[in-house]
Amino acid sequence: MQRVFSGIQPSGIPTLGNYLGAIRNWVKLQDSHECIFCVVDLHAITVWQEPAALRQQSLEMTAILLACGIDPNKHILFLQSAVRAHAQLAWIFNCVARLGWLNRMTQFKDKAGKDREAASSGLFVYPNLMAADIHAYHATRVPVGDDQRQHLELANDIAQKFNHDYGVDFFPNIEPLIMGPAARVMSLRDGTKKMSKSDPSDQSRINLNDDAETIALKIRRAKTDPLPVPSDVSELAERPEARNLVGIYAALTETDPASVLQAHGGTGFGSFKAALTELLVDQLSPIAAETRRLLEDEASLLQILRSGSERAAAIADPIVAEAERLVGFVGG
Ligand code: TRP
Repeated sequence: MQRVFSGIQPSGIPTLGNYLGAIRNWVKLQDSHECIFCVVDLHAITVWQEPAALRQQSLEMTAILLACGIDPNKHILFLQSAVRAHAQLAWIFNCVARLGWLNRMTQFKDKAGKDREAASSGLFVYPNLMAADIHAYHATRVPVGDDQRQHLELANDIAQKFNHDYGVDFFPNIEPLIMGPAARVMSLRDGTKKMSKSDPSDQSRINLNDDAETIALKIRRAKTDPLPVPSDVSELAERPEARNLVGIYAALTETDPASVLQAHGGTGFGSFKAALTELLVDQLSPIAAETRRLLEDEASLLQILRSGSERAAAIADPIVAEAERLVGFVGG
């Protein structure tokens, strides 16, 4: 069985976009792969995090992943900072990756913004830590959004250079599992912008902990144009808001936009939105309720994380110890 590794940052409540684009795929991969899922708090602090908020958000993200169906008994769910191997291997990779490689990373340029001098050095070596996350487990399959493709190529470059420099065949090549078009859930206020946790308007997104009333209100207020639901997908091309709502409907029902239009084409957006709201409430309310239940019992949540990090360390520690031996560290 192929080993999957993936990570998600504990930066606020995930949106419907995160759910359809990433988390739901993780849940499905559990049927066919050995999965290791990590809440990447080491990555989170590459930009400033209030300590109390980071702690709370790490627990929330853990609860949400469990509520969505990640199975912590059959697979592994843990916090990155709890397994020392990540930072240890990342240091070695800091010394393998070349500055020139990191300088080409578009995410650093985006995240650092105009004032690059003020960015943390952690933000610059972020991709090296991500490579370490994966290679510490010899994982070969990594589900990510398209925006992480460049980081996975770098992770392969690092593995190859390590293998070449030390004359070994130690770190395997990893294959990205790029998650499909369901990942492109757009803002409810502007169909040309991605639905985002960081959008200033909460009306622009569905959060995984929104209650039924909030979901209904947000969908009712979601931007549309005055035309009815089209009957043909070609008509969606010029109508980003309609395309987005139809796309969400298709993703939730695991069909495609053409089938959605077959059922709803020609109707007004009022009734389509009502149907969409029902779907969302049916699928998301149980997640919100289970998340709340899990968060009320912090001791159990911490116990699940402890068990996860122990099992993660049992895999990663020997691999990282071997990497250290190959580098020439005496150990002991
Ligand atoms: N950088 C990833 C993101 O922002 C999160 C991440 C960290 C990750 N480590 C990883 C994803 C390892 C896959 C594998 O989405």
